[in-house]
Amino acid sequence: MTDDLFSSLSLRQTTVPNRVMVSPMCQYSCETDGLATDWHLVHLGSRAVGGAGIVMTEATAVEPRGRISPNDLGIWSEEHAEALAPVADFVRGQGAVPAIQLAHAGRKGSKTRPWEGSETVAPDEGGWETLAPSADSWPYDRPKPAMREMDRNDVETLVDDFVRAAEYSLDAGFEIAEVHAAHGYLLHEFLSPAANDREDEYGGSFENRTRIVREVVSAVREVWPDDRPVFVRVSATDWLPERESWTVEDSVRLADRLADDVDLVDVSAGGLHPDQQIPNPGPNYQVPYAERIREETGLPVGAVGGITQPEQADALVRNERADLAVVGREHLRDPYFALRAAEELGTDELEWPLPYRRAV
Ligand SMILES: Cc1cc2nc3c(=O)[nH]c(=O)nc-3n(C[C@H](O)[C@H](O)[C@H](O)COP(=O)(O)O)c2cc1C
Repeated sequence: MTDDLFSSLSLRQTTVPNRVMVSPMCQYSCETDGLATDWHLVHLGSRAVGGAGIVMTEATAVEPRGRISPNDLGIWSEEHAEALAPVADFVRGQGAVPAIQLAHAGRKGSKTRPWEGSETVAPDEGGWETLAPSADSWPYDRPKPAMREMDRNDVETLVDDFVRAAEYSLDAGFEIAEVHAAHGYLLHEFLSPAANDREDEYGGSFENRTRIVREVVSAVREVWPDDRPVFVRVSATDWLPERESWTVEDSVRLADRLADDVDLVDVSAGGLHPDQQIPNPGPNYQVPYAERIREETGLPVGAVGGITQPEQADALVRNERADLAVVGREHLRDPYFALRAAEELGTDELEWPLPYRRAV
């Protein structure tokens, strides 16, 4: 039988009830030190009420310098796990799978929130010294933040930070951990020759540039229980065709190398460089990359980007282009996207929450 948007998906011992995933989306809504607030509970909780099969947190920083803004979510202490536990618990209570995206912002950190202009914040004004594989290149218009080129010790610490974050995520009750290696943040900066000029074993060849991602993913896999899935989000391409950069072929090769440790590749693109050229922005604009990684590696994939319509999401699964329809901005417009999709597609496989039944 062909799978559709409302078929369940088994990954290790986790059963995802349907194929709609809430894409990770920064909320910049912490008040103190990366601790989750009522905003996170209501925001993520609403999407679970709305029927999504997986509710993924926003990029959650594995250490304070891993935040984009001082208001980003973090998971580097027991207190952070305690603040997130009600979110994971509520999401699970609605029948959805709670997932957390573990992230480090790298050189894109230490900025004000987007609605405050994404201005660089200096260390003495509440910002911090950012980390990067290479400290010389800075492609953006805004002032370069304080930046430190990571040494061997920083690399080892980073792997430990991801492990600690994974352990606290487990304490908080999350079932899926996603390693964020996309969108020009720290791990992607290592992957791409357009951001990595290193001459040590973390720069240069494909093998070297992918080393840190392989180390992080494998270390997270090591502490994440065998019965629960680990995802990785990649930018399939830098969209920089005119210079040496990260390509779809590289992504296929990397996915293959990660196949023993990851259960699904969440396939996004871009975000590394302001000169990027998106070839076909619009509906499904990144789906071909997901499809290609799925085809060439046999790994389950999530497709994201420009998915807004129930039929469109359903077709991705039915036509075996992707295993998950990962929906971002449409979930901001409509937290009940999955319930709406069930209604529009005429299935009774997704039930409205009992207290809302009289409105159906
Ligand atoms: C407000 C906002 C915040 C985002 N934050 C993150 C994030 O924390 N992690 C991430 O991997 N992608 C992030 N993204 C990208 C989305 O997850 C998604 O990949 C992108 O919006 C394309 O999907 P869409 O067309 O369905 O919105 C963000 C996007 C938006 C609009």
